[in-house]
Amino acid sequence: MTSPHERPTPSTSSWWRDAVVYQVYLRSFADGNADGIGDIAGLRSRLEYLRDLGVDALWVNPWYASPLKDGGYDVADYRKINPEFGTLDDAVALIAEANGMGLRVLVDLVPNHTSAEHRWFQEALAALAGGEERARYHFRPGRGVDGSEPPNNWTSVFGGSAWSRVPDGEWYLHLFDRTQPDLNWDNAEVRAEFRDILRFWLDLGAAGFRVDVAHGLAKDPTYPDLERAERMLTMVEDTTAHPFWDRAGLHAVVREWREILDEYPGSVMVAEAWVADWNRLAAYLKPDEYHQVFNFHFLQAPWEATRIRESIAVAFDAAHAHGALPTWVLSNHDVVRHSTRYGLPQGLDARAWLLDGDRALLDSDLGLKRARAAILLMLGLPGSAYLYQGEELGLPEVHDLRLDVLDDPVWEKSGHTLKGRDGSRVPIPWTRDGGSFGFGADGSWLPQPVGWGSFSHQAQAGVEGTTLELYRSALRIRRELRSGDESLEWLDLGPDVVGFRRGTGTLVMVNLGEEPVEIPEGEPLLSSGDVADGLLPADTAIWVAVPPNRR
Ligand code: GLC
Ligand code: CA
Repeated sequence: MTSPHERPTPSTSSWWRDAVVYQVYLRSFADGNADGIGDIAGLRSRLEYLRDLGVDALWVNPWYASPLKDGGYDVADYRKINPEFGTLDDAVALIAEANGMGLRVLVDLVPNHTSAEHRWFQEALAALAGGEERARYHFRPGRGVDGSEPPNNWTSVFGGSAWSRVPDGEWYLHLFDRTQPDLNWDNAEVRAEFRDILRFWLDLGAAGFRVDVAHGLAKDPTYPDLERAERMLTMVEDTTAHPFWDRAGLHAVVREWREILDEYPGSVMVAEAWVADWNRLAAYLKPDEYHQVFNFHFLQAPWEATRIRESIAVAFDAAHAHGALPTWVLSNHDVVRHSTRYGLPQGLDARAWLLDGDRALLDSDLGLKRARAAILLMLGLPGSAYLYQGEELGLPEVHDLRLDVLDDPVWEKSGHTLKGRDGSRVPIPWTRDGGSFGFGADGSWLPQPVGWGSFSHQAQAGVEGTTLELYRSALRIRRELRSGDESLEWLDLGPDVVGFRRGTGTLVMVNLGEEPVEIPEGEPLLSSGDVADGLLPADTAIWVAVPPNRR
């Protein structure tokens, strides 16, 4: 048995294949200097917690110098840390300390756009139309009389036109907020700059990158109109001939990056690409491109055995085609937390419900029950798992944030039709009581709900049956069991059951139906809820060690 403390540093260069990566939304994780904003000092003070939880690596959301118009996904300087989060020295110390505890650190690379405060964009604004300073972005003349209409009908993911006008009459492209101008990846200087940024962080000890909006880098240079308006953060359905999503041209950029990563053994890149077609998404996993892609199909699958089985099988097929393994994720800083999603009726758009949906539709107990079952399913699968801070506490989405505290640009840009993503970003409760439940010494940048302390680390640690202890046990057992085993054999345990056996003999099963189902013979290792008389209740998962003679 390996305790989390004695974890050997993974020696193979493909440590990520079955790694558990913990996503740290820095601003909301822990506040080290009592200004209500999470920071690197806060994270450093909680590293032991993360080590003991049993994860292998951290992915830290953008921590760069930024006006924080989009939570830091608007980068003003890719080589500086935002003073609200700390200094570059703090970041270096964090990486070293984490590495010393066997935790690798992935940095969030934001290549699709910069902040409007980035030196390049400021130079572009100061330059004349047609000047080379503008060639690093997408500047275009407008349409209509005096060019007062945007160059085309592309819409921003956050709502409204994807173009904004500058005083001299030209327009620039921003697929997200107007403070996030898109970079032109056909520009040699842009390419060279990012190669250098990759080296900068790898040289400081980062183990690699989570790559933001990886499917957006290449744009059609003729800027044609879109045939129909669309919104993102839901999957882009058809990208075969799309003018800005998932274009073939982006792959050349990725290959350039991969050459650099290959100079740093053990480094890894994971793509955030919202592409529905697995055949197209799998292309990101070619051996000379990304090591991993986020698998949002699993996250979006409804609580139905058939759909979940399908989403697992298709992810394996696609990844295997390139010798890779799938990744698994249920929550992140962009989606409604899964313990809330699973508590809402099937088919309901949780994002829309946040604003003015009927609160009576939410069954929080059911949501948490399913979330606990889902995590045993997810952690039972071969491949690597991404956890979002707070899910190990069973945190729900904070759906009742007051409108006047909302910070996500989605709220304004959507014309107040979407509340945005703040409800998944509410600062973490560490203690039962206290001004910000132990998040920091003085308040939190988003208000925490009454009762948040009951989810706290302090309230759950060492208490049998809590979600925190479920995660800890699952991660410990997973570590003991994985031993290079990458295989999975489907079992037919009933129409509403997702069940499979790992090469190690561990059986994983989840009951998504309404009636209890029989558990095959073996030694129960861990279950997400109470199990009695050899029956697995509805919305419950279990891991069972099957004796060799029963396999
Ligand atoms: C990604 C990030 C999201 C951000 C957007 C623009 O989807 O995860 O938080 O708003 O990119 O950078
Ligand atoms: Ca702080």
